[in-house]
Amino acid sequence: MHRDIEHVLFSEEDILKGIEAVAAEVTEVYRGQDWTVVSVLKGSCIFASDLVRRIPIPLQMAFVAAHSYGDGTRPGELHVDFLPNEDEIQGCNLLLVDDILDTGRTMFALKNELLSRGATEVKTCVFLDKPSRRELRLEPDFRVFEVRDEFVVGYGLDFAGRYRNLPYVGALKPSVFECTQGERS
Ligand code: IMP
Ligand code: MG
Repeated sequence: MHRDIEHVLFSEEDILKGIEAVAAEVTEVYRGQDWTVVSVLKGSCIFASDLVRRIPIPLQMAFVAAHSYGDGTRPGELHVDFLPNEDEIQGCNLLLVDDILDTGRTMFALKNELLSRGATEVKTCVFLDKPSRRELRLEPDFRVFEVRDEFVVGYGLDFAGRYRNLPYVGALKPSVFECTQGERS
């Protein structure tokens, strides 16, 4: 285990088992449809790539980037850096995939932006759901795990840009984030 991690919440094995179950649910919902998985960068790149490889029906992929500057573990103002092309949005059924649904601000803003640009439907799929921190009324259509209010890293989730490459999800030692400024995406 990495020395900055206090404890592991989900091992590599737990993660892949959880993703297999969600991939099966997603497959049944989208079977027979034209649809696109929209991965929210950077955090969901690892989750999205494991998820799509367990979905055995045709799909397309697109990417959107969003980030918020905060004090490292608390969110600040949201910036959308780029969206899919117009023809990847208009008239499309989109599954917006993110690493974590926390306050809900990122998914809420992105979902509304995609709908206002002409998407037919936008569903949401998150790797982690932290419902205790929700500020907006938004429940994910699909989620792998629920977590309590604790800052977690690994498997795509970062603190100040680091730890995304850990193959498991773990809680950071408070001493690591207590005196650091960070950016979240
Ligand atoms: P929101 O508050 O739901 O808009 O989530 C904003 C973003 O904050 C997520 O996409 C994550 O990148 C990041 N985030 C929220 N909670 C955590 C966490 O516990 N660890 C790492 N990143 C987080
Ligand atoms: Mg993110």
